[in-house]
Amino acid sequence: MVRPVPICGGHNQREWPWGNLQGRVALVTGGIGGIGRAISERYASEGATVWVTDMLDEDDPVVTELMGRMGNSMRYMKLDVSSEEAWTAAERAVRDAGGGLDVLVLNAGIGYGAPVTETPASDWRQVMAVNTDGVFYGMKTMAPLMGESGKTRRGGSSIIAVSSILGLVGHAETVAYSASKGAVALMTKASAVEFATGGVPIRVNSIHPGFVRTAMTIGAAEQRVAEGEETALDDFVTYVTARTPMGRLAEPEEIAGAAAFLASEDASYMTGAQMVVDGGWTAW
Ligand SMILES: NC(=O)c1ccc[n+]([C@@H]2O[C@H](COP(=O)([O-])OP(=O)(O)OC[C@H]3O[C@@H](n4cnc5c(N)ncnc54)[C@H](O)[C@@H]3O)[C@@H](O)[C@H]2O)c1
Repeated sequence: MVRPVPICGGHNQREWPWGNLQGRVALVTGGIGGIGRAISERYASEGATVWVTDMLDEDDPVVTELMGRMGNSMRYMKLDVSSEEAWTAAERAVRDAGGGLDVLVLNAGIGYGAPVTETPASDWRQVMAVNTDGVFYGMKTMAPLMGESGKTRRGGSSIIAVSSILGLVGHAETVAYSASKGAVALMTKASAVEFATGGVPIRVNSIHPGFVRTAMTIGAAEQRVAEGEETALDDFVTYVTARTPMGRLAEPEEIAGAAAFLASEDASYMTGAQMVVDGGWTAW
């Protein structure tokens, strides 16, 4: 009988196949929205138990519907990422459940567009509170538990922060959003270096999507149409398709593919990396 040969050293050597999430525990923030939901469902399909978290109450019909589809692989928890207290409570719940935490996807976010001179300080604070503070609290609160879980995994645990192409390149009327996402890109690198050099078995990487078909983009444009801006949706889609080398928006599942890879042992040597999934937006 031919037996697969273990490829590398380290703790808990496993045989092929790598790359699936069997037996992993993941937590996804903003898991009810477009990208977060696609990531949650993809992780569950690869065998993970997924803590889906978002702003909705547990008995909200949207949560019930998702639980119906994901079944036993899903746990739901209300988690406002901008509250450190909420993160502390979430950490306690995950720890008490006893399965550890292998993968943390810091995905929750809000969009915002306005010229620099027309961005109220209160809006700036709100964008930073969700998009940047939320990522900081998540890393800070969950790292001790994830460091414990990572000791038993090839490549350790995995934190994935969802930034944006707007955390890499400039764009008009996005000063607050771009600041929040640029911060996430470098918080990722800083913590990746800190954990790796400090012997903490957690990889930290960021994903930078281009424009994705979700409530944040298409949904917001549809809302403007409903408010009387008749061409808002067509104008938005025309702008994005003309500006993107691949000539289309992304589907949420295409971002979930990148998140599945970064969570898996296939990415065991990746930390501090920026995975750009943008149809070529930043390439020209
Ligand atoms: N859609 C895009 O084109 C695009 C592009 C690049 C990056 N992103 C980023 O991807 C992530 C997901 O966005 P999406 O497109 O799926 O948007 P979405 O609006 O469909 O989902 C965002 C989710 O985050 C949740 N959320 C908002 N504030 C929260 C808070 N304080 N605590 C917990 N949850 C909160 C919302 O309830 C929602 O379910 C965001 O960080 C966004 O900035 C999106």
